[in-house]
Amino acid sequence: MATFTRIADDESPSITIHPNHKIARVNNNIYGGFTEHMGRCIYGGIYDPGNSLSDENGFRKDVIEAMKELNVPVVRYPGGNFVATYHWLDGVGPKENRPKRPELAWLGIESNEFGTDEFMKWCEIVGTEPYLCLNFGTGTLDEALGWLEYCNSTQDTHYANLRRKNGRDKPYKVKYWALGNECWGPWQVAQLTKEDYAKKAYQWAKALKLLDPSITLILCGETGYSSWDYYVLKECVKWDVHGLSGDNTKSLIDMHSIHMYTADKEHLPNATAPRGAERAIQMASALIDLARIENKVPETVPKQTICFDEWNVWDPVRAPGEQGAEEKYTLSDALAVSVFLNGFIRQAKDMGMANIAQSVNVISPLMTSKEGIVKQTTWWPLLLFSKYMRGHSVAVNVRSPEYTGRTNPKWIRGTTETPYLDCSATVSDDGYVSLAVANLSEEKAFEVPLEGLKAETVEVYTVNGDSVDVVNAAGEHKVGIKESSWDGKGPFKFGKHSFTLLRWKAGAA
Ligand code: AHR
Repeated sequence: MATFTRIADDESPSITIHPNHKIARVNNNIYGGFTEHMGRCIYGGIYDPGNSLSDENGFRKDVIEAMKELNVPVVRYPGGNFVATYHWLDGVGPKENRPKRPELAWLGIESNEFGTDEFMKWCEIVGTEPYLCLNFGTGTLDEALGWLEYCNSTQDTHYANLRRKNGRDKPYKVKYWALGNECWGPWQVAQLTKEDYAKKAYQWAKALKLLDPSITLILCGETGYSSWDYYVLKECVKWDVHGLSGDNTKSLIDMHSIHMYTADKEHLPNATAPRGAERAIQMASALIDLARIENKVPETVPKQTICFDEWNVWDPVRAPGEQGAEEKYTLSDALAVSVFLNGFIRQAKDMGMANIAQSVNVISPLMTSKEGIVKQTTWWPLLLFSKYMRGHSVAVNVRSPEYTGRTNPKWIRGTTETPYLDCSATVSDDGYVSLAVANLSEEKAFEVPLEGLKAETVEVYTVNGDSVDVVNAAGEHKVGIKESSWDGKGPFKFGKHSFTLLRWKAGAA
C-alpha cells in the first residue's frame, strides 16, 4: 500500500518506508516478456539464422544474454493479433515442409520457420517459462486441444507422439494458456461480442482443463474497466463445473488479462499516463470480486489474479504496427515505464503476471541490428526493477507536490493521483529494502528526508539524461544506470526527470 499526501509546491516532500509492513508478495512473473510474430520480433530479433551473432539454432546470442540479464521469468507467444489466424501445426515438423501463409494481422507472409519447438528451445536456453496464447479467431477447439496435447501430454496419443517424432520426448509442461487475444477489438480477424466470447471461452476452458487440469487459464479481458471485463468475468469465473466439481480449491479461470498502451507528446501527460494502468488493475480486481460474489465462489478458491499481458508506452501513429512498431524511446518514456512498474509493485496483491510488449524490436526496450543490440532508455528502469524489486511490496507514505495539468487518458484526473514523486518499495527475501522513486518534474530536484531508512551504506542507482527527450541509439548511449553509494544521512536529493533506486540492508544501522 502506498499513500499519497498532496502538499503545496513550495513545501518540502518526505517519504516514509515501513520495511516491516509487508503488503503482498511480488509475483516474479510481473517481469515477463512477449514475443509475437510481428515486425522484427521473431525474425531478425530472437531468430536470425546465418548471422555470426547467432548460435547453431539460429538464435541471437546477444538477445539471449540480454533476456538472461533481465531475468525474464515468463514469455508470451506467438501473439498478439497474429495469433487470430495462426495454426500451430504449420510451425512444427521438418522446416522444408512448413507452409508459407498470408499473415492477416500485420499483412505480411509467415514462413513458419520458427514455431512451437523452436520457441520452447529458446525458452529453455533463456531459462524462462513459455506462455501460449490460443487462436480464438480462425482456430478451433480441436486445434487448441491438439496444441495442449502436443506440449504437455505424456500419453501414447497422436499429438504427443507427433512431438516425439519431431525430436522431443519429454513434455514441455506449458503452464500458462490464454483464451484468445483482444477478442473484443475491431482489428481482430473474427472479432467477438462479449456474449459470444464468454460462451466460447467457458466451453474451451472446460475442455482444456479436462485434458490437463494442471494448467493456468487466462481469460481475455479488455482494459480492466469495461463492460466486456464485467461480463466475461461474470460468465466465466465459476468453480462448480464438470471435472472440477467437488474440489472447492480450484476454478476454471485462474487469471484475467488486461492491456494498456500509453503515450503523449508532452512529458507530464506521458509520464503520468501509466497511473491509469494502476487504476485499471484496481478496477479489474473489484470486478473479479464482484463476479465471485455474484457467482458464490467459495473463499477457498484462490482469487483470480490480473495478467497485464501487454503494457508499454506506444504511439501507434508514430510507430505503426504494420511497419514493425519500432518505437524510439525517450527519457520521458523511461520515466513512464518506471511509473507502470511502481504501479505493479504497489498493486502486488492482485498481480499474477505482466508482460512488457514486446521483448525485442517491436515497441521494445531492446533493439537488434545485424551488428549488435541497442538498449533503449526504457531498458534501464526495467532492469533495475527486475533485479531488485522482488520479495514483498512494503508500505510507503509519500508527501509530494502533485502535477495537476492535463492527463492522458483524461479520466486519470479525478479517479487517481499524479504526484511528482512516484514511489514503491520492497523488501527482498535476503533482507534488502529497495525504494524506487521516479521524480517526474522537468524543472525541480527534490531534497527528501527518508523516514524509516536506517542504514549507513545505501546503494544508489540513477537513470537520467540531459533532457526528457534524449534517446539511445547505436553509438549514442545517452541514458544508462549511474551507480554510487550514500551514507544514508540527511535528505536525499532526487534529480529532476530522474529514476532512482536506493537499496540497503534492513536493520543495518
Ligand atoms: O503488441 C502489439 C499488438 O498490440 C498486439 O499484437 C495486440 O494484442 C495489441 O493490440
